[in-house]
Amino acid sequence: MSAQLRAQSDRRVARSAFAKPRNPGDGFISDEVFRKFQALIYSETGIWLAPHKTALLIGRLAKRLRALRLSSMSEYFTMVSEPNQHYERLLMIDCITTNETHFFREPRHFEFLAHTAIPLWREEALAGSRERRIRVWSAGCSSGEEPFSLAMILLDHFMEGAGWRLEIFATDISTRVLGKASKGIFPISRSKEVPANYVSRYLLKGTGEHQGSIKVSPEVQKLVKFARLNLNAESYSISQPFDVIFLRNVMIYFDEQVKRRVLTQVERYLSPGGYLFVGHSESLHGLGANLDLVSPGVYTNLTGLDQATSHPYGRTTVASRK
Ligand SMILES: C[S@@+](CC[C@H](N)C(=O)[O-])C[C@H]1O[C@@H](n2cnc3c(N)ncnc32)[C@H](O)[C@@H]1O
Repeated sequence: MSAQLRAQSDRRVARSAFAKPRNPGDGFISDEVFRKFQALIYSETGIWLAPHKTALLIGRLAKRLRALRLSSMSEYFTMVSEPNQHYERLLMIDCITTNETHFFREPRHFEFLAHTAIPLWREEALAGSRERRIRVWSAGCSSGEEPFSLAMILLDHFMEGAGWRLEIFATDISTRVLGKASKGIFPISRSKEVPANYVSRYLLKGTGEHQGSIKVSPEVQKLVKFARLNLNAESYSISQPFDVIFLRNVMIYFDEQVKRRVLTQVERYLSPGGYLFVGHSESLHGLGANLDLVSPGVYTNLTGLDQATSHPYGRTTVASRK
């Protein structure tokens, strides 16, 4: 996001500071304007707003209308859809996305990593069939709780100095949540979601002006690289595959067409024998993925794996195959 675009948007807000104060949106949107927003948001993000989501759209965008002193959703649409309004579209996306997340959300996934994936990677490294390197992608990472939970689990199991390289790539479409995530600071109430032994090892309690906050420790923070990545883009700027991809509670906002397209792309970045995690309420069934379900919400890619390897999910034992 360029300084020029930011300045442009700031100037617009400053100019409009002299406009008559109005009641933003008045809680109204015509069907036509709703459909225009629906199409714009879909093409930008892949997020499909069902027709009954009018109140949600108005509520989420009210902040932008207030900041810009616009009086109707129609005026805001005219502005945000101008080709040069790239920065305003980023702000609109920040408002539209749902960013709910927790540390160690859906704990069975972390148990799967600790009890199945990590012991297997260790065995493979001992047998010389894998590099001592683990690459993880948290796609749709929101404010960072998910990738930091992954970092804690990896740090716990791979002792520093044992020669393992750990890399976590955490991406989201929302620049607002990425800004929060990269600070690594959370309300102290969030520490309840973290296992007690990790709280003492990986979280720092704020003092003075930071009272009431926790900060992830530098070793946890160092492991995670945050970047903006739109899963709805035609291609992703990723060069190397991952052993683990968390794509949890993101595709629920997409329609089937976008889900298929995103999955086709994401699948390409999964190493043979790697694991793709989706939320417990999600399924890849019928989406054309060439992956095998091995545990609730956990899929693996057996393509290219030697049939004789020690992988615990040989082709004959997978729970389902599409
Ligand atoms: C409900 S949160 C899930 C966070 C985390 N994965 C979890 O399960 O706790 C969904 C996240 O997906 C992001 N998202 C939505 N559409 C996206 C897209 N097209 N590309 C990348 N991220 C997207 C949102 O910004 C949001 O932070």
